[in-house]
Amino acid sequence: MTTPPPTPTRPVDDPDARAEAAGLLRSGALVAFPTETVYGLGADATDEDAVAGIFAAKDRPRFNPLISHVPTADAAFALGQATEAAKRLAATHWPGPLTMVLQRRPGCPIAWLTSAGLETVALRVPGSAAARSLLAEVGRPVAAPSANRSGRVSPTTAAHVAEELGGRVALILDGGPCPVGLESTVVDLSGDRPRLLRPGAVTREQIEALLGPIDLAVEGDAITAPGMLASHYAPKAPVRLNATDRRPGEAFLDFGATVAGADADLSPSGDLLAAAAKLFAALRALDRPGIAAIAVARVPVGGLGAAINDRLRRAAAPRI
Ligand code: TXA
Ligand code: MG
Repeated sequence: MTTPPPTPTRPVDDPDARAEAAGLLRSGALVAFPTETVYGLGADATDEDAVAGIFAAKDRPRFNPLISHVPTADAAFALGQATEAAKRLAATHWPGPLTMVLQRRPGCPIAWLTSAGLETVALRVPGSAAARSLLAEVGRPVAAPSANRSGRVSPTTAAHVAEELGGRVALILDGGPCPVGLESTVVDLSGDRPRLLRPGAVTREQIEALLGPIDLAVEGDAITAPGMLASHYAPKAPVRLNATDRRPGEAFLDFGATVAGADADLSPSGDLLAAAAKLFAALRALDRPGIAAIAVARVPVGGLGAAINDRLRRAAAPRI
């Protein structure tokens, strides 16, 4: 691997750093910034050329639509059509790790490239206060996929971002490790019935408590989330799931202290919140050249476990 040129990194809690980042974003540059879920690779969502820079930096297929980030629910509903369900979800889960896909409002300035030509827009008000300050200062929606090369594990520290995209962004804002550690839940509210497009930190159970039963999008639906591509969030080494034993040459990623001498444990006490926060960093740390596979212990499927298992299945899926 070649060493990328160093990218300036500044603390997100420094108002001067945020002012610099906001200026860069307004001028069409790419800036990586922390949210409560994962680090985002940001660009002005209304600027087609800036957004094209995101796809180039990530080597990302163009048909994948991006999430636009805004500082308040009011800002979101100025861009996308607020349905009753959207308002109800926003009241409880915004700011927070939830993305809503809504019908574009007339005159919505989000570039067509950002939404991959769709009549809908994906909107999120991040839970991180520093991220919202940055967004307020930019004054425009900021398109931001996870700040990694396409198909790879999402970054949960500024160092991960530098590894993935060093030299390809103007500035990295550092907010320390992301507290949630998994990408936001994506719910499509643009049709007759709400549909869960990507499981995430806001669980299906939490959404159904507010909206009643919701549909699950299945792989192969006309509008799919890239999170629904079979192989995604993948380390370089093969991944073996529901492992109950350590095999020669493997790195073992445990959950709930099930084997002796594991290389890492997502949560020795079996706590799903802690496991989600640690998942991507652990996959990165264990992904060393020459290992036979990363073996991962079973993680229960309820609540946040659904999102963790979704990411693990994709990490283990056959590579194209
Ligand atoms: O936690 C997160 O959501 C992170 C941080 C940085 O905010 N961002 C992120 O963005 O994960 P990205 O681009 O990796 O994921 C965008 C998701 C994809 O699953 C995409 O298909 C879906 O949102 N999406 C975006 N616009 C859509 C649309 N108009 N219709 C359907 N799905 C859409
Ligand atoms: Mg991603």
